[in-house]
Amino acid sequence: MKAINIFYFLLVMLFSQCMHKEKVLVAPTPNCLPDTVRYTAHIAPIMIRSCNACHGPFNTTGYNTFSFAELSALAQTGKLVGSVNHMPDYIAMPIRSNLDTCSIMLITKWVAQGGVE
Ligand code: HEC
Repeated sequence: MKAINIFYFLLVMLFSQCMHKEKVLVAPTPNCLPDTVRYTAHIAPIMIRSCNACHGPFNTTGYNTFSFAELSALAQTGKLVGSVNHMPDYIAMPIRSNLDTCSIMLITKWVAQGGVE
């Protein structure tokens, strides 16, 4: 009788573990695309991380990504979205590398929304 009680106890424990795991699975996953993509909060950190080393104030590439004004101007030419998405007719950026999908989606949405500061 005692052994059966222990068996049921273990069964209930096991079952509650499964229930717990299920709860974790249905928890909302963080979404990398906010409703409004903002330069300061979302775009500037990507530029600092992946672009400004070559496109900062002292670069000679002719393209600047280091400030809101400079990046907005670049965005309006279509080259920002074209280059990070590796679209034909644009030079793929960053050179010899790829941004992570989230960063590409953030930049693309930011430009589509008109480049909010
Ligand atoms: C290792 C240096 C380097 C990095 C890092 C880099 N770029 Fe560039 N980028 C260049 C150079 C050099 C050119 C000019 C290429 C040419 O004209 O032949 C260029 C050109 C561009 C152009 C013009 C593309 C076109 O089709 O005319 C854009 C836009 C650009 N970069 C944006 C970016 C962005 C955004 C990032 C970060 C995601 C980035 N770059 C990272 C070196 C770099």
